[in-house]
Amino acid sequence: MRLAAFSLLGLASTAHSISTISAYGNKFFYENGTQFFIKGVAYQLTEDDPLLDKTQCSLDASLMAELGANTIRVYHVDASSDHSDCMTVLADAGIYVLADLDTFDTYILPDSPYWNQTQYEKFAAVMDEFQQYDNTLGFFVGNEVIAMASQSMAAPFIKAAARDMKAYRDSKNYRAIPVGYSAADIAELRPMLQDYLTCGGNSSDNVDFFSLNSYEWCGETSYSTSGYATLESEAVNFPVPIFFSETGCNTVPPRTFEDQAAIFGDDMVNDWSGSIIYEWIEETNNYGLISYGPAAGTSTGSDIVGGYTRSGTPTPVSPDFDNLKTQWATLTPTGIMSSDMTTGTLSTRTCPASSTGTAAWLVNGNVALPTVGETLYNGAYTTSVPTGTNAGSASGTAASDESSSSSSSSTAKSLGAMSSSVNKVSIILVGLTLLLAVGL
Ligand SMILES: *[C@@H]1O[C@H](CO)[C@@H](O)[C@H](O)[C@H]1NC(C)=O
Ligand SMILES: *[C@@H]1O[C@H](CO)[C@@H](O)[C@H](O)[C@H]1NC(C)=O
Ligand SMILES: *[C@@H]1O[C@H](CO)[C@@H](O)[C@H](O)[C@H]1NC(C)=O
Repeated sequence: MRLAAFSLLGLASTAHSISTISAYGNKFFYENGTQFFIKGVAYQLTEDDPLLDKTQCSLDASLMAELGANTIRVYHVDASSDHSDCMTVLADAGIYVLADLDTFDTYILPDSPYWNQTQYEKFAAVMDEFQQYDNTLGFFVGNEVIAMASQSMAAPFIKAAARDMKAYRDSKNYRAIPVGYSAADIAELRPMLQDYLTCGGNSSDNVDFFSLNSYEWCGETSYSTSGYATLESEAVNFPVPIFFSETGCNTVPPRTFEDQAAIFGDDMVNDWSGSIIYEWIEETNNYGLISYGPAAGTSTGSDIVGGYTRSGTPTPVSPDFDNLKTQWATLTPTGIMSSDMTTGTLSTRTCPASSTGTAAWLVNGNVALPTVGETLYNGAYTTSVPTGTNAGSASGTAASDESSSSSSSSTAKSLGAMSSSVNKVSIILVGLTLLLAVGL
């Protein structure tokens, strides 16, 4: 087994070569020291792993390259499947992958957080699979776990997951693939959350990057009126790379993506590492850059979900696709060489103190992080929650009582992004499938 896996690995890495990317100071760099900026798209065609069908990956990767993208983010992958075909096709097109370690049945719960051995092993299994590919750019330990201010007590669990996955990575002698978090843009919690995840003076406890799903720039606005000036002020001298893990407000169509010029321009380029546009596939929420055919209406078919065809030859959505392509073509920042990175001015942040009020940050300073097996209960960590109570309940809220999506991106999100109703449906579906399987 081991030998076979090893020789396959050898084949995969000789068949193509793409420079690995690493985080150093607060920037990403290629192996040769040139700075790397993310030009990405969110890629999740259905709830299932989109990196298993080589033909589909090929069709999409070539159009992504034409768009000027160098990265995709994928929200849900199946660690037990072989991703080598798709990862090779993507690498050949110059495309890196940011993948979530969590999925529908393992993500850290916002209201009743726990971090246990099952999650640890499932997260580690995703890392085991993807660490072997040179074009794996990074891992998320969560996406929008905290979606409203009252959920800030989940933050130490996010940090604990990052700490443990980094320690796992290092214990296995894997490449130092960055492990970070993708946050909802919640005005009341900014900048506490990004500071908290990078605070306390011990980088082993911190995320390797922080990223924000932000839909603040809509239509004809500007750097100063969009809210980006505030985001920038909070990112100056950030200790680790920071980037937009989702962006592309669509409330004023067509999308012109003028925020890209701000992110890759003089105002922000020294502090930000790029952006990921939400999203590749057109679906009901109207964020798509491409479609696989017209809206299917009430048609049914194996590749139609929610009224949209989800495989085939991608066709650009006009004019959005070309608008983004034109923006990106003009935005090619050089950045700095890794040898010119002055880490002296960067230090981990000060852990914010808790505050009081309706939208308070509840974590007080550099609190102890939970260890594997611990659950938040009555404001403290415990390994044994009394029976009959909701596991991990911080405030008596039921574990399944999930909140709506982030305030600033309240427009419907895709199957891929953290959409609680979709998550619930899928968990129920998985449950039914299991019951059926057991029954048979
Ligand atoms: C460094 O490597 C990247 C990726 O291969 C390449 O695009 C860039 O031109 C290289 N930089 C230099 C200075 O050779
Ligand atoms: C972790 O928590 C989940 C949800 O409560 C549970 O299904 C699973 O069995 C737990 N794992 C361990 C090792 O206790
Ligand atoms: C830093 O954090 C890591 C992981 O929690 C821990 O193993 C290590 O002892 C810490 N280092 C110091 C100096 O406290």
